[in-house]
Amino acid sequence: MVQTSSLKALVLAGGRGTRLRPLTYTLPKQLVPVANRPILHYVLDQIAAMGIREVGVILSPETGDQIRASLEANPWHFEFTYIVQPEPLGLAHAVQTASAYLEGAPFLMYLGDNLLEDSLVGLADRFLTQGLDALLLVKEVEDPRKFGVVVLDDQQRLVDLVEKPKEPPSSLALVGVYFFSPKILEMVEGLTPSWRGEYEITDAIRRLLHHGGRIEVVPLQGWWLDTGKKDDLLLANRRVLETLRDQDIAGTLEGRCVLDGPVVIEPGSRLRNVRITGPVVIGKGAVLEESEIGPFVSVGPGCRIRSAHIHGAVLLEAVTVEAASLHDSLIGTRAVIRGTGTSHPQLKLLVGDDIEIVLE
Ligand code: G1P
Repeated sequence: MVQTSSLKALVLAGGRGTRLRPLTYTLPKQLVPVANRPILHYVLDQIAAMGIREVGVILSPETGDQIRASLEANPWHFEFTYIVQPEPLGLAHAVQTASAYLEGAPFLMYLGDNLLEDSLVGLADRFLTQGLDALLLVKEVEDPRKFGVVVLDDQQRLVDLVEKPKEPPSSLALVGVYFFSPKILEMVEGLTPSWRGEYEITDAIRRLLHHGGRIEVVPLQGWWLDTGKKDDLLLANRRVLETLRDQDIAGTLEGRCVLDGPVVIEPGSRLRNVRITGPVVIGKGAVLEESEIGPFVSVGPGCRIRSAHIHGAVLLEAVTVEAASLHDSLIGTRAVIRGTGTSHPQLKLLVGDDIEIVLE
């Protein structure tokens, strides 16, 4: 049995999160919550399950402090090393920036906004016992132009890789989880930036392939979501909520409340005349009145909801929704949405922190 504890992890929690603006003007994309927990925490759950102890976290100068603060409680008991990447110059540049931390150890690189259903435990063993230089995960996707794409031969061996191809040679996308031997450190040296101005890990892997590196490509069975965009984030929220099985009601129910399906209500929250169709989670200290919530809704701590209908939505902390119908929406901290009733219009919103929307 190979010791997976010899593997280090490198978690990428930098970048600008441009595809989730305006939310990511104030919150790093890795901390956007699904089912009321930051995405990054699910990433760390996966790494902990593999028995890895040392975790390097790539930070950006702008959001580094928020990421650190969110990891401070460290329920996983990791030995964290924080590494600042001064500019978001790509994944290969992040590896280069982390070279002193990696110290020639094999490592797992995990993009902090990627959410996977499958456990990776078996893969870490496979990578180490076979002495590979890279183990890559791939998944069939509808629009490969948004990803790194691999070409395999008829025996599933890697033939080529290309980042964000305009004319994709296959529909197999690179998932944001990679196992690497220290050889990758040589491959990230002296790359030229891609058309998007980034040093691409995909180019470094292609170089590794041409230098005779031993690379295995493994198709992912379960779902995978790159949560850097609104619709993917809402889908991730849905997928995680779908794993809820039971009701766990720690808040207070008043008047006539009907709770159907898996519902988690955290302590200190109060519901009055509310109908909930699970799966739904309601954070600490939220107050909900005369409303219909669910399915697939995460209500953050301290939210205030009155006379509203909400389904398929993520509400961050202390959001107010009154007399409005929301669906497929992502609402930032302390935002206020005030409508004129629930019959119409149906609002579908991506709203940043502290925004106020009032319909008259
Ligand atoms: C990055 C990688 C890409 C990979 C994707 C997975 O893209 O460059 O190869 O398919 O992550 O999430 P980015 O998120 O930087 O656009």
